[in-house]
Amino acid sequence: LKNIAILTSGGDAPGMNAAIRSCTLAALHYGHKVFGFLHGFKGLINNEFILLEEQKVRDIIHCGGTILKSARCPEFLDENNQQLAADHLDNLNIDALIVIGGDGSFCGMLALNKHYKGQLIALPGTIDNDVDGTDHTIGFATAVNTAIDAIDKIRDTADAFERVFVIEVMGRHSGFLALNVGIASGAEQVITFENFKNPGVELQNIAEHIKLCKEKRGASSYLIVAAENLWPQGIDQLCNDLQNYANITCTPCILGYIQRGGSPVPKDRIMATKMGVAAIDAIINGKTMVMIGEVSATIVEVKIKYAVRHKKQVNGDLLMAQNSILDIAELAKINK
Ligand code: F6P
Repeated sequence: LKNIAILTSGGDAPGMNAAIRSCTLAALHYGHKVFGFLHGFKGLINNEFILLEEQKVRDIIHCGGTILKSARCPEFLDENNQQLAADHLDNLNIDALIVIGGDGSFCGMLALNKHYKGQLIALPGTIDNDVDGTDHTIGFATAVNTAIDAIDKIRDTADAFERVFVIEVMGRHSGFLALNVGIASGAEQVITFENFKNPGVELQNIAEHIKLCKEKRGASSYLIVAAENLWPQGIDQLCNDLQNYANITCTPCILGYIQRGGSPVPKDRIMATKMGVAAIDAIINGKTMVMIGEVSATIVEVKIKYAVRHKKQVNGDLLMAQNSILDIAELAKINK
């Protein structure tokens, strides 16, 4: 029987608790002992852990956040701290560690692997969906839902005032959230890494499209969903640029951290549960340095090196759908 440890690291994501729950319950089912390290990799360095028993996790599937807490841990770049973490795991006779997080957390796992001889298993948990080797990460579906819910409300007030809104969504350096949220909320415009040319070209396209929409529909609302970290100096600057370039007044709105919180939607709960069980299976089967993913509704094990630092591509159909809806053909006709 094994001693299994779990930690959550990086940006928390709805469904992390569901994953902690299923890893724990599956491990206990087979008679293993489960430890939860607190505050991600910081907890490994500081030897901060709790014992995970059935009653600690039974009732958490519906809760956002993570009962194990999370943290960013730049200190883990230091080899001495990596060694300290490995020593702490060895002193507790931990046979396997499950890391629930995103790309940065998996890099931490790669570093730990140089010092720790136990098994290391990754579960993809981030609202950004920017981890390769899995169609979706734990938390993404909920974050899309939360953002859409907020944008539906913004649409109401935008309609009432016939305003142009620029709404920034998270996603770090990837456009999954922006594109999915943009399409599902019926935004008139999505500005994301995947279709961004340069600020000059974009400014002209956006301004022309807003004017075209006004011409065709009369005054009405117009929503732009923008990925964070894209427009130079952020969406306030984009609003200033549109004002200066085309005399278009826009209201900026950053959705921010609400996208990380809330009760996970069923898809995240179910996927996290399946992945947690698969993580324990992988440990029992002696696997190490693998990530559990889900591809075409099937649970898979992927070598961690294929999941880390690989730019996951946004599905081309999404981009095509968005571009077609933007009425680019009509815009082109008017430009002739
Ligand atoms: O990775 C999740 C995420 O919420 C990103 O979308 C965002 O860019 C980042 O974390 C924010 O990080 P922090 O919590 O450190 O401000």
